[in-house]
Amino acid sequence: MVGLSNKKVNVGMVGYKFMGKAHSHAYKDVGMFFDLDADVVMKAICGRDENGVKEAADKFGWESYETDWRKMIAREDIDFVDINAPSDAHKEIALAAIAAGKHVFCEKPLALSLADGREMLAAAEKAGVKHAVCFNYRFLPAVQLAKQIIDEGRLGEIHHYRATYLQDWLVDPNTPLAWRLKKEVAGSGAHGDINAHSIDLARFLIGEFDRVVGHNRTFVKERPLATHSSGLSGSGSATEKGEVSVDDATGFLADFKNGAMGMFIASRFAAGRKNHNTFEIHGSKGSIRWDLEKLNELEVYFREDEPNLAGFRRILATEPTHKYAGNWWPTGHIIGYEHAFVHIIYEFIQHMTTDSPFTPTFLDGVKCQEVLEAVDLSIERGAWVNVDEV
Ligand SMILES: NC(=O)c1ccc[n+]([C@@H]2O[C@H](COP(=O)([O-])OP(=O)(O)OC[C@H]3O[C@@H](n4cnc5c(N)ncnc54)[C@H](O)[C@@H]3O)[C@@H](O)[C@H]2O)c1
Repeated sequence: MVGLSNKKVNVGMVGYKFMGKAHSHAYKDVGMFFDLDADVVMKAICGRDENGVKEAADKFGWESYETDWRKMIAREDIDFVDINAPSDAHKEIALAAIAAGKHVFCEKPLALSLADGREMLAAAEKAGVKHAVCFNYRFLPAVQLAKQIIDEGRLGEIHHYRATYLQDWLVDPNTPLAWRLKKEVAGSGAHGDINAHSIDLARFLIGEFDRVVGHNRTFVKERPLATHSSGLSGSGSATEKGEVSVDDATGFLADFKNGAMGMFIASRFAAGRKNHNTFEIHGSKGSIRWDLEKLNELEVYFREDEPNLAGFRRILATEPTHKYAGNWWPTGHIIGYEHAFVHIIYEFIQHMTTDSPFTPTFLDGVKCQEVLEAVDLSIERGAWVNVDEV
């Protein structure tokens, strides 16, 4: 494994569009706001289109660029590989990086399938490299506060977990057929893309899933072929169409191992909802709710409050006491979407250099994938499926 003893961590990153930009931003900011045990060096960025990747390298501040990830992985001056390519490329790149003894930070969902995810986890564990899957929402101060409240038992026994992840970028039937709408590239649609986040948050906050039952829809079955795409936007052909091979929406019910009941809905057809990632949790002693669109806030209700004062209180999680918040601005000066990436990358760099505890690893990626596949199986069978069965 390439040593980190020189107190430098040399990053090699694949992909330079939506997530490539979010991660580049995190590498630039992390050393400014957090005390790291090693300097982060933005060594090389990789993409297939030379003009595009060169422009990204210059704009985002990378020292060099490559057009073939194999070449980048083979470089001795790269310590860890950050994978921001679409999901069908995760496994091959991760396995090659692991074989070269590099640490790996991989975007979610970990893999196209549970079998692939398990192979990636086994390879990383065998090689003894550090590994992470980018479930970034865990790393927001308000979500960390939710976790603390639950872990301290302040909600008591958990009865209900309800999550939504709603977007509306596919309601327009002319939105082009980008890679996110092709099963062979994305694995699944709204399910693997955004239910994956809700599943991870639920596991992080209240624990493991026991069994699930779901249903899904593909509302628009054909779309214009994409001529260009980046993140959730793109342009399409005026004449040629192709088949949508993934779900536009997937909902499911769940039972958790701790006895809680769960409801989940992920949709890209929720008109008016742009990135409505929420959870609401009810316990025997109280409730909490959170919404990404107001990401610094956590609403909390405690049953023990005096009856005439009881009600949901809104906590602004921007005090120095709230995890990560004190590293940024004076109290009340809010943070945004991009900061979660800074926090997860901070934790992973510390993990690589000091062996500090870190989750979510590939194991969490696999656990998430188990729930995703159990839901798909339940849809196929029209019946509940035990997650342990997949
Ligand atoms: N954590 C999150 O919240 C979050 C948000 C969005 C996307 N994602 C995940 O990030 C990954 C990338 O999504 P995106 O929205 O950034 O996609 P995107 O389409 O915006 O960018 C994909 C990038 O990968 C590059 N690429 C594709 N195949 C490649 C290959 N073989 N070699 C080198 N580069 C290659 C493309 O050139 C492009 O730069 C996906 O797995 C997605 O699920 C995670």
